[in-house]
Amino acid sequence: MRTYLVTGGAGFIGSNFIHYMLKKYKDIFIINLDKLTYAGNLTNLKSIEKDDRYTFVKGDIRDIVLVESLFDQYEIDYTVNFAAESHVDRSIQNPIEFVKTNIEGTFVLLEVAKKAWRQEKGWKEGKKFLQISTDEVYGSLGETGFFTEESPIQPRNPYAASKASADLLVQSYFNTYHMPVNITRCANNYGPYQFPEKLIPLMINNCLHGKGLPIYGDGKNIRDWIYVEDHSRAIDHVIHRGRLGQVYNIGGKNEKTNIEMVKTIICTLKKMLPETEIQKWGIGEERIRYVSDRKGHDRRYAIDARKIWNELNWKAQVSFQEGMIKTVQWYLDHQEWLEDINTGEYKRYYEKKYIQG
Ligand SMILES: NC(=O)c1ccc[n+]([C@@H]2O[C@H](COP(=O)([O-])OP(=O)(O)OC[C@H]3O[C@@H](n4cnc5c(N)ncnc54)[C@H](O)[C@@H]3O)[C@@H](O)[C@H]2O)c1
Repeated sequence: MRTYLVTGGAGFIGSNFIHYMLKKYKDIFIINLDKLTYAGNLTNLKSIEKDDRYTFVKGDIRDIVLVESLFDQYEIDYTVNFAAESHVDRSIQNPIEFVKTNIEGTFVLLEVAKKAWRQEKGWKEGKKFLQISTDEVYGSLGETGFFTEESPIQPRNPYAASKASADLLVQSYFNTYHMPVNITRCANNYGPYQFPEKLIPLMINNCLHGKGLPIYGDGKNIRDWIYVEDHSRAIDHVIHRGRLGQVYNIGGKNEKTNIEMVKTIICTLKKMLPETEIQKWGIGEERIRYVSDRKGHDRRYAIDARKIWNELNWKAQVSFQEGMIKTVQWYLDHQEWLEDINTGEYKRYYEKKYIQG
């Protein structure tokens, strides 16, 4: 049996990953360490909370005593570090939490894992530290070209800079101590359980409440989108087959402008909802409104994922069209999940950002 310490498992990608792994493997044990910030939501894991292959620990990855106690209590084989402050806009307003969690937190996990896994001669067999990073560490692209694993690290906002810093720490543990590590840098994810401050659930949520659809700048910023289950599958590949010390880019080869994304969501909702609902909420492109651009808004991200295709035989399987249908359907089927979030801290955040300005 293999034991995984998954950090940030109550968030969007972490919770999808835990579902994916428990479904795929019978003989694993997952410890989910999550601080339950505004972005962490245990409802995401309701269906597996009683599974005896899973346990939840509420806590901060910066809490060295707690992290050490987990490594003492369990023979942890893999640490998969999703825990992060993850929203660029929040990093522009309040970067300190990003430095604390994304950099210091990663450092604590590395240090504790090193202490637990390092022996007098070499490292215990079969251990790995996987850092879940992002394509945003590479900065912004012009109209052409792709990020490869060799692209320079040129983050342009505090979120991206904190993730890049963590990546450098992880790489330094490989170079200095030969710690068994990998780093994955993935494109923008979409799918179930994504907090509604991010583009896709924000637009679906606003459509379902008759609100405006705010788009930054000219709406032509480009992101490369991947369905979250494809990301989980890629992580699984890297954990089990990734060459130690290597970085793997993960992408779905789906470049879309923000405006294209919003129009796709409107179109998908219109196909799925009865006419009465569409009329009731006034769902349509006339709801789109352009708002002043995000500071330092990166223009284009695009991933070259040939390394993971060629080395680990991984490719995204869910087409953009299929992924969007699944995603919109999920939010339509889980409107109570959205409602719970809409009434909490998110309501204050949304009003401050989009209504009071
Ligand atoms: N969302 C994307 O499109 C995307 C793309 C590439 C990489 N990533 C990376 O994937 C990871 C997960 O992203 P996400 O979108 O699921 O984020 P998320 O914001 O939905 O979830 C983050 C989780 O981390 C937890 N957390 C935050 N600070 C913590 C701390 N100090 N200690 C313990 N737990 C803490 C939160 O409670 C939350 O459950 C992040 O590292 C992010 O940088 C995300």
